[in-house]
Amino acid sequence: MSYVEDPGPGHGSVPPRASFTSDAPSLSLNGTWRFRLSPSIAAAPDPLEADDSGWDELPVPSLWQLHGHGAPAYTNVHYPFPVDPPHVPSDNPTGDHRRHFDLPDDWPSGPAVLRFDGIDSCGRIWLNGTELGVTKGSRLPSEFEVGPLLRPRDNVLVVRVHQWSAGSYLEDQDMWWLSGIFRSVTLLSRPAGGIGDYWVRADYDHVSGLGTLRVETGPDVVLDIPSLGIAGHPAGDPLELPVEPWTAETPRLYEGTLSTAAERVPVRIGFRTVSIEDGQLKVNGQRLLLRGVNRHEHDPRTGRVVSPETALADVLLMKRHHVNAVRTSHYPPDPAFLELCDEYGLWVIDECDLETHGFGPLGWERNPSGEPMWTDAYLDRMRRTVERDKNRPSVILWSLGNESHTGDNLARMADWVRHRDPTRPVHYEGDHDCSYVDVHSRMYATPDEVDRIGRREDDNERRRDLPFLLCEYAHAMGNGPGGLLEYRELFERYPNCQGGFVWEWIDHGLAVPGHFAYGGDFGEPLHDGNFVIDGLLFPDRTPSPGLTEFAKIIEPVRIDAGPAGIRVSNHYDFVSTEHVTFSWVLEDEGIAVAQGVLDVPVVHSGQSVTVPLPPLPPCAGESWLTVSASLASATAWAPAGHVVGWGQLPVSPAPARPAPPVRGPVFRTAGQLVLGTGEFDAATGALTALGGHPVDGPRLDVWRATTDNDRGSSPGPAEASRWFEAGLHRMQHRVIAVDADGDELVVRTRVAPPARAFGLFADYTWTAFDGGLRLRVDVTPDGPVPDTLPRLGLAMAVPGTFGSAEWFGGGPGEAYPDSRQAARIGRFSSSVDGLQTPYVFPQENGNRTAVRWARFTGPDGTGLRVDGDPTFDFTARRWTSAALEAARHTDELESGSLVHLTLDVAQHGLGTAACGPGVLAPYRLVPGKTSFALTLRPVAGGVAN
Ligand code: GAL
Repeated sequence: MSYVEDPGPGHGSVPPRASFTSDAPSLSLNGTWRFRLSPSIAAAPDPLEADDSGWDELPVPSLWQLHGHGAPAYTNVHYPFPVDPPHVPSDNPTGDHRRHFDLPDDWPSGPAVLRFDGIDSCGRIWLNGTELGVTKGSRLPSEFEVGPLLRPRDNVLVVRVHQWSAGSYLEDQDMWWLSGIFRSVTLLSRPAGGIGDYWVRADYDHVSGLGTLRVETGPDVVLDIPSLGIAGHPAGDPLELPVEPWTAETPRLYEGTLSTAAERVPVRIGFRTVSIEDGQLKVNGQRLLLRGVNRHEHDPRTGRVVSPETALADVLLMKRHHVNAVRTSHYPPDPAFLELCDEYGLWVIDECDLETHGFGPLGWERNPSGEPMWTDAYLDRMRRTVERDKNRPSVILWSLGNESHTGDNLARMADWVRHRDPTRPVHYEGDHDCSYVDVHSRMYATPDEVDRIGRREDDNERRRDLPFLLCEYAHAMGNGPGGLLEYRELFERYPNCQGGFVWEWIDHGLAVPGHFAYGGDFGEPLHDGNFVIDGLLFPDRTPSPGLTEFAKIIEPVRIDAGPAGIRVSNHYDFVSTEHVTFSWVLEDEGIAVAQGVLDVPVVHSGQSVTVPLPPLPPCAGESWLTVSASLASATAWAPAGHVVGWGQLPVSPAPARPAPPVRGPVFRTAGQLVLGTGEFDAATGALTALGGHPVDGPRLDVWRATTDNDRGSSPGPAEASRWFEAGLHRMQHRVIAVDADGDELVVRTRVAPPARAFGLFADYTWTAFDGGLRLRVDVTPDGPVPDTLPRLGLAMAVPGTFGSAEWFGGGPGEAYPDSRQAARIGRFSSSVDGLQTPYVFPQENGNRTAVRWARFTGPDGTGLRVDGDPTFDFTARRWTSAALEAARHTDELESGSLVHLTLDVAQHGLGTAACGPGVLAPYRLVPGKTSFALTLRPVAGGVAN
């Protein structure tokens, strides 16, 4: 069997060891390489042939499909090739990579290794014509001994990379299929008498405050840690000494060195002890609450080639949004990322490069997890994961992989880990009985299921007593996730429910001209469309509203109204609020009228205090007190002033305004009705102009451009398919009567889809007052209406010049019934264009909630003001909901000549049915008899009203 289809691991490499740098010479071989792609192994000429001058150039690290060779392909579960393990297609794209290099003049003779941090999926390697071996396990390092082969000048390194190999069966993660040498290549001198490997064992006893330190390494290695007064200490001899512990909140690292006469290795040591006690996962004796995300490595231009800058950007964004944990789904990341987790403080589940999900649809027949021929590959992958990352204090759990069902090979991996590293528990979600893992993990469990687990009502005894976490939940695809608050409440209620990891951190969209691409955009015959666009960040790392919401849900300092003032609660797991300052601002109808500093005593982890309200001046309008907790001084990850929690307290309600006197009556002119500032079509009763501005509508509207979650069918039938089936996207408006007697214009209609017997009676009652119109809408369902509606409100088009919005209500960002914690009450403004959230796959977005009033005006200041009774939700866009529904990429949305408004009394929630529970009961929009009212007023230029 060829090495490509051999189910075993690669061969020829030296035993795996920790990733570290040293003062021994090293030479980066990243840069421009020569490259030639062949469509198959059979068609690939001899990789060692002398002349490569006709080859292309390719940067290394890179994935060749993102450099014009072949094309990316996306599948979630399915293998894009026949499932015939361990065989792979004969049409196996094969990329020959060549690099010529000279050694620096001072390069020492003697042992050296060539290190590959990641080759996808299988690489065969030659140096100066001698074969070194074969590597598999795409996201794991391999090192080959090359000392005797090196020459001072013109070394020729040849790497033949195959897109498919037996290893591909173990790498069926939900992501793009991409190939190449995608992580660094480095030549490392390995001096005789140097430090081959080391393992810092640094524990912390939270009772005594003592750290224990012992370094497993070779003989004659000495340890120096100046800040602990450790000098020339034999590294293997245990030490016990008072230290500050490492936690994700206080990532205290002690810098030091390990050295021999031949080599010096810088080390950064974090003291911490992971344990499972009382059915809880603890670090340093303290229960953790994991406010985590699943992170794939993704860059919209380079795919899984992630630069150190990008890794740092991720860490900073996580820290600034209060994320405290990362699951490295579903493979070990570039090692630089974990070093940043150590430095900035993030708890990490380090996951092995393993997923065989594509066997699932085949009933898990021949799944590698249970087949002996794969045992070595499984163990090899686990071993390379643990050995590489064992020195990272941030890593608190090892994960065997993802969605590979269950089987002996997984159990053996767990055994191996337990034996090699008893200091970190083992995680794997697929071991449903928890027979070989240490924590109970689930994905996408509903709040009800989590509640049962929290109450320890699980009928599996072993599982019942383990710490529980959601390795994936709150699928962040498109507009969402909705329903985060319910999970937070469960994690806080039950000590054994220790949080989870939102799926997922970033959309995997690939940058192509005009938009971000997803599955199918490269002509793949088999693909899973935009299911790869399910992150809290857009592909360019702009935070989506989902991340803003998640940050609000998990903020470490919580501020709300207490029984006697302002309650401040500390939700950090370890630290007090000593590093936080508190400030307040009083806003009268969204305008700041007073502000100050709030004196809050130091609050310890898990505690809360209530402080009285500051003295506040009276306000004429609806007023809110906003209290913010922010960093008193800069940290490594955010400047001073960065907000770590905020809350709002209502201070004075909106003054009761007597309804303005009605100014009738309705006049009839040719084909028209005139009521106050409004002109109506006499036949249809539709408003056609307001204050001289042409308008279309408002009329009843229940449709929204369906979201990924609306279309999601996990677990039941998709909400959206029921809506389409009912015809809610093509409602017709039948005018029953237009009554224009006296001071009121009453328009009775029935709004209903073709081919269906149900409808909604919608009666519009218009009255005029000085300067505007009041509209009351009475909605009465008629017949078998669907269980839920997407939304309920009005749609209206106004001139396209009304391109600026200002409102008093929830903001600044979008909000929906089950994703509205991040919206605060204030006065906000935005261009209409700025109100759009550019979801990679266009869908409903941009809803502003709890709006008291909004103005839509043009450059000359004229426009329309809408007041709620008391509130409404709105969207404003330059295209219709139908156009939004039809678009598949953002650049298909074209601005028309109108601004389209929706003015709603209710919206259906978002939920996470794209993968997980749908909209929870309190957030479902169940149709019923409804009345709501709005006032519409023309705004005169230059007048602020
Ligand atoms: C999970 C899987 C993830 C991802 C997610 C859906 O089942 O572990 O890799 O596919 O579903 O986006």
